[in-house]
Amino acid sequence: MEGIAGGLREELAGELCTKWVGRRLCFEREVDSTNLWVKRLAAEGAPEGTVALAEAQKAGRGRRGRSWASPAGENLYLTLLLRPRLRPQDAPMVTLVMGLSVAQGIEAAAGLSPGIKWPNDVALGGRKLCGILTEMSLRGECVDYVAVGVGINVNQEKFPEELADKATSLRREAGCRLRRSKVAAAVLEAFERNFEIYLKTKDLSGLQEEYGRRLINCGRQVRILEEGRERAGTARGINSRGELLVEYEDGSREAVFAGEVSVRGLYSYV
Ligand code: BTN
Repeated sequence: MEGIAGGLREELAGELCTKWVGRRLCFEREVDSTNLWVKRLAAEGAPEGTVALAEAQKAGRGRRGRSWASPAGENLYLTLLLRPRLRPQDAPMVTLVMGLSVAQGIEAAAGLSPGIKWPNDVALGGRKLCGILTEMSLRGECVDYVAVGVGINVNQEKFPEELADKATSLRREAGCRLRRSKVAAAVLEAFERNFEIYLKTKDLSGLQEEYGRRLINCGRQVRILEEGRERAGTARGINSRGELLVEYEDGSREAVFAGEVSVRGLYSYV
């Protein structure tokens, strides 16, 4: 069990074995969105590795302008601030690095083996466990900072009707409550390791194999929704730039870029 309310920050600070990720740990009971909060912290000059963590979000944000339901006390809502020397076109790969880190962190902390739904959902049993929202700010032509927001359903038991067959939590999958600080620490530690591997080449060549092993879309039918156009194909893995390799019925292959498309399973969420 976690300690008294407000103990999440202290527990995480005590548990985290990292060099630079989360060395500055900001905590609030309730914020609008941890991504918006990190953007404000970044504007004030917060250092790389700053983590903003909240018990609840009033305006949690998902991809494509959607909202992210963020009830208090059950789940993890955190955003990591990065100030990498990257070209803007390389920044979307950071989302994949985080997706892999969430899957590995959950495995280490909860003994479950989640998969990754490209590019950035982590799922178990065909249902979504975690969503990632990466936002980038530019200074001229260069990346000024990247805010990587992570929402993990940890101890939530009940989901609204519209999410009931699409969402799950670690508690539902493991059959017991989990300490959020343990999950957060394992994810952030995995991210620090993976991000350093990524920075060596500024692509995913050092992580591609491990990512591919966890890629649940692989070999499955996917619908690629791009600029109002929809095409069906089979996912065959990712390349070193983190693009999804899709094979179409006529045998042609295409590398699909995460920023441009939405990928859906043909018959289900995955
Ligand atoms: C998605 O799958 O649509 C992405 C969801 C991202 C949710 C997290 S929760 C912490 C951070 N703060 C936000 O407002 N969003 C992200």
